Amino acid sequence: MSDALPPDAGRVSRRGLFAGFGAAGVMGLGAVALAQASRSYKESNPLSHISPFGLHQAGVSRPNIPQQHCLICVVDIQSGDPTAWLGSLSQEIASLTAAPSGNSLVTPDGVGDLTITVGLGARPLSHSRHPEFANQLRLPLFKGDSDLDPGFIGGDVFISVNASDPIVLAPTLARVIGHLPSPTVRWQEFGFRGQPVRGVVRNSLGYFDGIIEPRTETELDDNVWIGSGPLKGGTICVIRKFALDAVSFRKLDQAQRDKVFGRRQLTGAPLSGGNRDDEINLDAKEPDGTLKVPEHSHARAAHPSFTGSGVMLRRGYSFRSEPAETGHLFVSFQNDVSTFVKTQLRLDEGDSLSEFATPLATAAFVVLPGFNEGRPLGSTLF
Ligand code: HEM
Repeated sequence: MSDALPPDAGRVSRRGLFAGFGAAGVMGLGAVALAQASRSYKESNPLSHISPFGLHQAGVSRPNIPQQHCLICVVDIQSGDPTAWLGSLSQEIASLTAAPSGNSLVTPDGVGDLTITVGLGARPLSHSRHPEFANQLRLPLFKGDSDLDPGFIGGDVFISVNASDPIVLAPTLARVIGHLPSPTVRWQEFGFRGQPVRGVVRNSLGYFDGIIEPRTETELDDNVWIGSGPLKGGTICVIRKFALDAVSFRKLDQAQRDKVFGRRQLTGAPLSGGNRDDEINLDAKEPDGTLKVPEHSHARAAHPSFTGSGVMLRRGYSFRSEPAETGHLFVSFQNDVSTFVKTQLRLDEGDSLSEFATPLATAAFVVLPGFNEGRPLGSTLF
């Protein structure tokens, strides 16, 4: 992924191009330099293709570091023959993300690392051969949710289009939505992520976000993928959109800000000590007996040891759009929705971060098991 590259990878070759013009003053030489520059730029920025096929849909754990941009969309649909629309949708996803070029109108410069991930909400699931799965998606109303307009609670279909190149997102989403029966978009949001530093990006409050995550195959099998039954290979996605009061947060001094998260902004290290990627020590105390990782810090409040739950795969994005000057799209994947619910309920009891975060939307979806040419999306459910 791109974090393996120096931040200015590719720029050198463009500077080289102008030097080439100046020194030689010959158009032919300039054209050669242009070809070389563009070739060396592409070679130094390979975007690995992500296959749409497999046991799991692309875009959940592949690529392992989420692409820098996404368009997330929650849509309501009219009842239609799910086998028909899920079949044509599967074909569309396969052709839009087929290497190397995808759809020549949508990705004229190649498909890159484009992924499309689809989930179903409670209503379409309740009409499936397994209506029992719908119950897993009914989230309680968490702190602040009762102020939400019902249009921002739940939804029928979840679509996440992710890519390094933000230009391809909107035309891709439009084609995907075109396969849904009488779609009405509830809401959509464009999300972006910072430049990864050793695999982790900063969120829009400036803190490393996504340090503690299931990463190995075993961790993903244990915590993220549904292991058996008709949803085998799928997962449950919870999405919560938050406005962040960055203005008030920035007014805190550095030590106060670090106490909100329980981590140091500069390094990401837990306040209990060690390095960014080390385990947090929740028992660590100052000489005066106070907890090093404060009682209501986010890292403590969200820690799975208090809820006895699994570890969620968090792949959040930042956004900036009305009514949030600064916002966070919280996106988590887990094989048991209670992992999320228990954590959120605990955060509701006392999380310093919640003083700066206001929910704007909330929903849960079954991310359908992966598909391939002979087995379309949703084939085990409808
Ligand atoms: C306002 C939006 C949120 C922001 C900006 C945010 C940010 C962060 C940051 C910076 C960390 C510490 C670094 C890390 O381990 O990744 C973290 C940890 C964590 N957050 Fe959040 N978070 C938000 C909301 C949530 C929500 C809604 C949940 C779940 C209900 C959640 C669950 C977690 C968990 C489980 C951890 C890891 C705790 C650990 O094991 O140490 N976060 N979050």
